[in-house]
This record gives sequence, structure tokens and C-alpha cells, in this order.
Amino acid sequence: MKNRLQRIINPKTGHTVMLAIDHPYFQGQVSNLSNIRESIWPLLPYSDAVMLTRGTLRNSMDTGMPTPVVLRVSGGASILKDDLSDEEITVSMREAVRLNASAVALSVYVGAPHEKQTLMSLSKLVNEGEEYGMPVLAVTAVGREMVRDARYLGLATRIAAELGAHIVKTYYCENFEKVVEGCPVPIVIAGGKKIPEEEALKNVYEAIQAGASGCDYGRNIFQSEFSVPMIRAVRSIVQENYTADEALELFNSLKTGK
Ligand code: R5P
Repeated sequence: MKNRLQRIINPKTGHTVMLAIDHPYFQGQVSNLSNIRESIWPLLPYSDAVMLTRGTLRNSMDTGMPTPVVLRVSGGASILKDDLSDEEITVSMREAVRLNASAVALSVYVGAPHEKQTLMSLSKLVNEGEEYGMPVLAVTAVGREMVRDARYLGLATRIAAELGAHIVKTYYCENFEKVVEGCPVPIVIAGGKKIPEEEALKNVYEAIQAGASGCDYGRNIFQSEFSVPMIRAVRSIVQENYTADEALELFNSLKTGK
């Protein structure tokens, strides 16, 4: 368990830059995830871990890829339905081990119609994960209807940690330090829809200052016109103590090739 966690979260810094590319599991086709080799492979050297589905791992990744895998193991809903919370576990723990995953991930939907189902799935994964030494990452507050403030995110992340999640992923919000304070396990932030790079970098910086262990950004990296400069700028904040301004400067110099 500890070995797998240390593959994802650098023990020297206590931080991680995860790259999330699991979106098609409920969104179908997603901009810049059609040709993974072209859009994602160049980002892997700057990622401490990549979060993806079994399908992407099987179809689009090189078997020699050294980047640790966080395997998305929940699904069953699509964006065509109003209720995204109707998810179950899609991949067995045995299969996750066979695929050499460093952690498994699922979404929990606190306050949604299928809250109990997803929380019980988390508990089941944690029970199985303990048997195999497999960490579980819980993604909280996904879905259109969820409020994203410190009170709600604090509640959702704490519930996930109480049920045994080893890492929790959530959204950045105002007063994020309150969310971090109340959650006893490492927190990484998601990015959400694509926003200007400057803003996305500021969110990462503020989350790290508030005590987050890193980020698990997706669209704000792979949908950037300059995705490699963007992930390198994100990495400079998370792993090299850059400020948001310094990271933006790095982004601008890398994108112009200076
Ligand atoms: C959402 O359910 C998925 O786990 C995404 O991987 C997650 O939202 C992070 O991606 P983004 O930064 O694009 O929001």
C-alpha cells in the first residue's frame, strides 16, 4: 500500500501532479482525447501519475509506459442522463492488480440520488484494496447539480476519508484551507472545464498554499493549445515551489520557445 502511494505522491515533496484523462467513461468523445498518442503521450514525462480507464490503458498506452496508473473503476452513467450518480464498480480488484495499477479511483456523489450506492462502492473498494495493498482515490463533487463551496466539499471529502479513501480528489473553492483542515488524507484538486491558463495556475498555487497535496488536472492541461508548457508550469508550482506568477512566466516562455 505504502509503496503504491509513494509511486503517486512523491515522498520527498509530499506532492503529486496527476493527469486525468478518464473523462470519456461518461462523456464519450472529449476534445483532444481522440488521439491519445499525439495529445497525451508528450505529457506523461511531466506527470507523476495518469488517471485513466481500462479501455484507454488497453487501447492507447504503451506497455512500457513507466507512468504510474490510477485506474478509474467506476462507471455506468452517461451525460445523456440527468442523474450522473448512478454508478457502480466496473473493474474487479484482481483486474486492477493484473493491470499493475498504483491506485483505483471512483466517484462518490454525496447529496445525489445514488449517494448510498456510491458510498457503499467506495467502502467495498476500500475493503478489497486493503486485502491487495491497493490505495483508493475517491473523486467527490462531480456532477452538474453539486454546489462547490467549502462547506459542501468539506463534508464530502471528510465522508470519503472516513470511509477509508487514501486520497481524495475535489474542486478548489474559496476558503479551501477549511476543506483541507477537515480531511485527514491527501487532497488533490480537479480543474473542471477549460479556463484561461493564468486562472488555472492561480488555482493550483492557492490550493497548494492551502495545504493540498497536488492536482489531478485534465481539460486545463490537455485542452490547452500549449499543453506541454502548461503541465510543466503546473509542475513547477506543485513540485518546485514556484509562485503562480513565476509559473505563468515559465508557461509564456515555454510556449514561445524562449
Ligand atoms: C471526472 O469525473 C473525472 O474524474 C475527471 O478526471 C476530473 O473531473 C478531472 O478532470 P478535469 O480537470 O478536466 O475536471
